[in-house]
Amino acid sequence: MKESDPISRRSFLDYLLGGGLVVWTVGGVAPVLSYLWPAQRQGPGAQAVSAGKTEGWEAWQAKMVAINGQPALVLRTAQGFRAFSAVCTHLGCIVQWNVQRRQIACPCHAGFFDPNGRVVSGPPPRPLTELGVALVNGEVMVKSL
Ligand code: FES
Repeated sequence: MKESDPISRRSFLDYLLGGGLVVWTVGGVAPVLSYLWPAQRQGPGAQAVSAGKTEGWEAWQAKMVAINGQPALVLRTAQGFRAFSAVCTHLGCIVQWNVQRRQIACPCHAGFFDPNGRVVSGPPPRPLTELGVALVNGEVMVKSL
């Protein structure tokens, strides 16, 4: 004697196909929704981190900090503090401050940026993305855009 299945083979296949259709629909709709309503870069997701005290930070010295999980280069120029995303606009290598040249250098393909983040030479197609800087109680605060 054969026991009756609590769920028939046909029902099981219907559930399987239905579940697959739901997964396929969500997978197709989610990218469209994220395109139509992109995450806001300002607001609750924006973050400010301290790059350290201004005291003792000499002109033409730079520090690296992480902001929202991304590297940022904070530089003190003769005019004040500047901060840039340290992600090169060419292929995404991490740039570094070159104190001898007083330029921001990308080690991957010899791209160079001036202290304003503008491209001086090499393959980067765009300036570095500038980040917000504020001095709060003697600290250099860097804010993501
Ligand atoms: S990744 Fe920076 S110059 Fe190519």
